[in-house]
Amino acid sequence: MTSCSAPGKIILFGEHAVVFGKPALALAIDLRIWSRVTRSNQYSVNGHPMKKRHHAYVSAALDEAWNGPPINIDTESEIPSGSGLGSSAAVTVSCVGAMLSEKGRFEPESVAKKSFEVENLVQGRASPIDTSTSTHGHGVLVSPDRSDGFLWRIDKGSTSWNIHHCEVPAMKFVVGYTGIHAATGPLVSKVKKLVDSDAKGVSLINRIGEIVLDGVVCLKNGDKQRLGALMLENHEILNELGVGHPALEKIVNACKGISHGAKLTGAGGGGSMIALTDDTERVSEAIREAGGIPIVVRVGCEGARTESSGVRKR
Ligand code: MEV
Repeated sequence: MTSCSAPGKIILFGEHAVVFGKPALALAIDLRIWSRVTRSNQYSVNGHPMKKRHHAYVSAALDEAWNGPPINIDTESEIPSGSGLGSSAAVTVSCVGAMLSEKGRFEPESVAKKSFEVENLVQGRASPIDTSTSTHGHGVLVSPDRSDGFLWRIDKGSTSWNIHHCEVPAMKFVVGYTGIHAATGPLVSKVKKLVDSDAKGVSLINRIGEIVLDGVVCLKNGDKQRLGALMLENHEILNELGVGHPALEKIVNACKGISHGAKLTGAGGGGSMIALTDDTERVSEAIREAGGIPIVVRVGCEGARTESSGVRKR
């Protein structure tokens, strides 16, 4: 029996553009998924026979990271599915991590690379931002260029992503979850169609890339005011790319003026937004009044780790 847990994430800047090889910055959060692998007489998930359609990520993780006798995989999650908070990455990373450690081969770079392949396969198209952040934890900068804090490189087709460790200063974020489940794959395809057919799409993606690099400097300097302004600009561009949602817009608007800044986080189309604030209570209340579910998150948390007890522990 081997158990592994992995955290969810918020994307501070750069979602969608990162799929095209642009930079992105994400922070691991204190919501996790636990996966436990035990030998069994059939392949199963939480005691039910494994079905590719129902258990897409777990079953793809099995193909990628396990090559052995039947196992049961038990999963336990604190992250709402389809919330934009990295639940698919965390389930993938924790499963891959548990399978590799069961084989005595848990190693972060290999967990991240295999988990990226799983997400890419299930979603049809992906970047490594979610899976590498869930694996490494802390803060993660993905960029086309290699710089300080380099961890590993992931390639797919003609695109290369360099994954870097990023220090995360003490900052407070409130997530506003719309309660609307949004699958990542179709949103990624929608943006691809726009970028492939419209020069404006390309310039929007390029501007997001510039925002990310500016944001990395602001994060290092703890410049919350400028970070907030960049979050709002990034949010507007995501709306122009067509991944906004009226419920998200309502919550983001409610946070304007009472936070440093706010934006949707992750794939969009529902899911969640984040607000950077010094007053989590006031912002939480505004999110609730605007119809969202507020979740105060701690950022910069530990990445994937094997769990000796096999049970969930905080
Ligand atoms: C989803 O959390 C982030 C996206 O950029 C997709 C990806 O990078 O794979 C929308």
